[in-house]
Amino acid sequence: MKKIIRKHPLAIRWLHWINFPIMAMMVWSGLLIYWANGVYKLGWGDQTVLKFFPKNFYEALNVPFRLAEGMSMHFFFMWLFAINGFFYVAYLIVSKEWKYLLPEKRSWKEAWQVLLHDLRLRKTSPPQIKYNAAQRIAYTAVILMGIMMLLTGLAIYKPVQLNWLCKLLGGYAWARAEHFIFTILFCLFFLVHVLQVIFAGWNKFQAIITGFEVVKKNDLEESTPITIAETDKTTTE
Ligand code: HEM
Repeated sequence: MKKIIRKHPLAIRWLHWINFPIMAMMVWSGLLIYWANGVYKLGWGDQTVLKFFPKNFYEALNVPFRLAEGMSMHFFFMWLFAINGFFYVAYLIVSKEWKYLLPEKRSWKEAWQVLLHDLRLRKTSPPQIKYNAAQRIAYTAVILMGIMMLLTGLAIYKPVQLNWLCKLLGGYAWARAEHFIFTILFCLFFLVHVLQVIFAGWNKFQAIITGFEVVKKNDLEESTPITIAETDKTTTE
């Protein structure tokens, strides 16, 4: 027997999907700006393991000499990013959805068990409500990253007017480096997130669009709040 349950509220779905193209535009326009003064690398002393970014990477994406275009887009989309992010966080608080999202005490231990399970090294994964422990940690981390991207971005956008913020973040050079590091971390989150969605399958993906998920009755207590319809196997498969 399977059931259809309500999983993602309408507001979460809208805010999640609005955020996606905005973030894409922020990263893209950020790259157009960063090209003009690409100072960061992985390495030590004169040794470079990875330069951010190699010349052929820029050329393949047609990035060079588009600084002004990048700046105008970046400073436009950042408002949308901030507004959308504000409504998302406000909704999490008001609707109490944060309870399903923030890590709990046991999440840190359970995240390893989830990882071992995902790597097929463990048979069972710990029971969960809506999100597993690894998701709770990753989703909370990406919200914090978003806040930090905004704060570090504002600090280097208006370093004179927001001098206090710039100082708090360690000065202009540090704030710029932090802005860059949070962006790289965000891109890594994005890669893992999309891979996880592919592995988790169609049912989870369609749920963040429709709001509903099909679950086995046994998994129900471990899943999420509201059951809306009972359905037998033949109608749902
Ligand atoms: C800008 C990039 C993205 C960010 C920052 C992001 C972040 C998040 C967050 C924070 C959640 C939890 C939402 C909540 O309940 O409050 C979530 C859920 C989800 N996201 Fe994304 N997401 C992004 C892009 C995508 C993309 C491109 C896809 C599709 C390939 C996707 C698919 C999903 C799915 C399926 C869930 C629900 C997972 C589940 O029910 O287990 N996301 N995402």
